[in-house]
Amino acid sequence: SCAPLTSLQRSPRCAVLPQLVALGHVPEAMRGQAAAATPQGAAELWLGLRGSPCGTVSPAFLSLTLDASLAREPRFITLLSNPKLHTLARGLSPGFLRFGGTSTDFLIFDPHKDSTLEEKILSELQPGFAAVQELLLAQWPSQEKLLLTEHSRKKHKNTTITGHTLDILHGFANCSGFHLVFGLNALLRQHGREWDSSNAGQLLGYCARRGYNLSWELGNEPNSFKKKSGIYIDGSQLGRDFIHLRRLLSQHPLYRHAKLYGPDVGQPRKHTQRLLRSFLKSGGKVIDSVTWHHYYVDGRSATREDFLSPAVLDTFATAVRDVLEIVAATVPGKKVWLGETSSAYGGGAPQLSNTYLAGFMWLDKLGLAARQGIDVVMRQVFFGAGSYHLVDASFEPLPDYWLSLLYKRLVGTRVLEASVAGADARRLRVYLHCTNPQHPKYREGDVTLFALNLYNVSQSLQLPKQLWSKQVDQYLLLPHGKESILSRRVQLNGRLLQMVDKETLPTLHEAALAPGSALGLPAFSYGFYVIRNAKAIACI
Ligand SMILES: *[C@@H]1O[C@H](CO)[C@@H](O)[C@H](O)[C@H]1NC(C)=O
Ligand SMILES: *[C@@H]1O[C@H](CO)[C@@H](O)[C@H](O)[C@H]1NC(C)=O
Ligand SMILES: *[C@@H]1O[C@H](CO)[C@@H](O)[C@H](O)[C@H]1NC(C)=O
Repeated sequence: SCAPLTSLQRSPRCAVLPQLVALGHVPEAMRGQAAAATPQGAAELWLGLRGSPCGTVSPAFLSLTLDASLAREPRFITLLSNPKLHTLARGLSPGFLRFGGTSTDFLIFDPHKDSTLEEKILSELQPGFAAVQELLLAQWPSQEKLLLTEHSRKKHKNTTITGHTLDILHGFANCSGFHLVFGLNALLRQHGREWDSSNAGQLLGYCARRGYNLSWELGNEPNSFKKKSGIYIDGSQLGRDFIHLRRLLSQHPLYRHAKLYGPDVGQPRKHTQRLLRSFLKSGGKVIDSVTWHHYYVDGRSATREDFLSPAVLDTFATAVRDVLEIVAATVPGKKVWLGETSSAYGGGAPQLSNTYLAGFMWLDKLGLAARQGIDVVMRQVFFGAGSYHLVDASFEPLPDYWLSLLYKRLVGTRVLEASVAGADARRLRVYLHCTNPQHPKYREGDVTLFALNLYNVSQSLQLPKQLWSKQVDQYLLLPHGKESILSRRVQLNGRLLQMVDKETLPTLHEAALAPGSALGLPAFSYGFYVIRNAKAIACI
């Protein structure tokens, strides 16, 4: 069995070989050697098929977010009634849908206002009514621009939300097979000190009366409250506020056992680490998972090279290690979640975060997070302003959507060890899980390998000899069209991925490889390989 994943003295079976290099445990000279390895010969795979799994993640491991800025102008929340968006979300279920972000702490619930006039007009029309959707979509680009400008100027205005917004959010989550996690405003304060829960109390009351089964958060990135609002809240105060919220939840029979997650801190820089530590000491006992946020780079300055840089990808491993260390020292055994995460902050990197290129950061994050013991990863955002969305403003799925869909279908919750020899493991990155047992085609004992080639030339991976007789199903994703790596369309095994119609996702066809053949990855590419009948002990 696995040692507690949040403990630093975790089982060495989950040793993260490429990351040891990244964290400086291998001399510089050796790193140079590895990088210079000739790409001609096939790299040899080592796969941990014999032991027990080195970790297990939540069935909701790949989860999603909606940014609370979507409610900044209430009428835009109605976009969520689009049927195509439902189909796309359903494809990625089950999972959590977190509604949060900077705007969380500027949303005020108005229990007396049923809905705004605009919402009334919209709700009287058929939901998803094409003309309404068209009108909203026509207005969306300017709204998007406004949201991004507000965000970068760090100017935040209070916004009213109504019961109608909550109805739409809950309906969207529930109909798509997601469990809604709602972030409450933590900046409502009495004399700038204790949290004032009266508005949250009204919101909870509304949701309880409607029978909405939700989970809760309180506040978003409290480490930057001072910058956003002028109010400084220390970790122990925030912990006491969470205890207060837990008490409030227990007053509603429906929420007596509701889950509470937090504190949704930003990047674990030094002062944020201090805040997290003191928060966990004071409020750690009332939360069900510890949440933190991660972005690799700033969207305004990110480059194509950043997305392909092993050094940039490895910075995530260091951040995970820092957070796990704090959790192990304060609330050992508590699950750790990435409560909000994407490639680049500030809405993503324009022309990059919405292309095939973004998949390197996304897939590597999924691989590393599971291997290091993160239980859930919530992708910022499913739909909404910026360029890091999975589905764009025309409801078109982007490369990271298709990547997520494949991941969801093929990758199970049990994590296995994998490594390569004969190539630089930082440039040829491999991850291994048991195959998702829900997949109708695959069986117990099958394993799913996923690999990223960051070399500028093609690479091939050789399976261990005992697997040469096995059938391998390849799911290779490549960019489609002349934009190459910056394309917003992808092909799976050579076929363009697109929806059949607004209610139907395409079939994801595998390419069966001849037994014993090497797994070929073109320059700058990624893919999945299901090794059938691998009889991995951990997967039975
Ligand atoms: C959520 O959806 C399920 C079916 O998908 C339904 O049975 C349930 O009543 C819904 N819950 C609410 C509160 O709407
Ligand atoms: C609420 O949802 C959670 C997560 O899906 C589930 O485990 C729990 O049983 C639900 N609670 C109620 C009261 O339906
Ligand atoms: C690949 O990158 C190396 C430097 O890392 C460079 O010398 C070489 O020209 C590049 N090859 C191609 C095909 O771009």
